[in-house]
Amino acid sequence: MAILPILKYPDPLLREKSKEVELFDDGLKALAADMAETMLEAPGAGLAAPQVGRLTRMIVIAGAGNDEDFDERVLTLVNPRITWSGGEQVYNEGCLSVLDYSENVIRAGEVEVQARDLDGRPFTITADGRRAVILQHEIDHLDGILFLDRISSLKRDIYKRKLKKIMKESADA
Ligand code: NI
Repeated sequence: MAILPILKYPDPLLREKSKEVELFDDGLKALAADMAETMLEAPGAGLAAPQVGRLTRMIVIAGAGNDEDFDERVLTLVNPRITWSGGEQVYNEGCLSVLDYSENVIRAGEVEVQARDLDGRPFTITADGRRAVILQHEIDHLDGILFLDRISSLKRDIYKRKLKKIMKESADA
């Protein structure tokens, strides 16, 4: 297993659409293990393959055992798809690929997600609360969507200016 570098916005790879997994092989399992290790080390609540530069429809979610507890059990979802959603919630989101920023995002309150496991077996999960937010956030990554796209353009512009300043300061340092 290895800790992988996490791409940061505005890396263009984060904007690409990831490809469906067709081959459930050892390479996929190795990537999932590396993603889990990378997420837990960060630490983050979820991670999508494009964040480590792989345009593969796979995400990992921390705290697989319980809705609220952050633990080291990791749920891996391959080719995840939201098959039902309902309600609404506002949650303060951040992202391992978005430096120094969090903002309230409006999303569905509840989701049903169909996916495959690492052996290609289909399964369905339902989630609400924080877990539903994480699932929607990570599945967005597979379509090149960041939480920054789901906030007002005014807030996004303020963040872009802030990021420019941060990048300039780190380049000057
Ligand atoms: Ni993210």
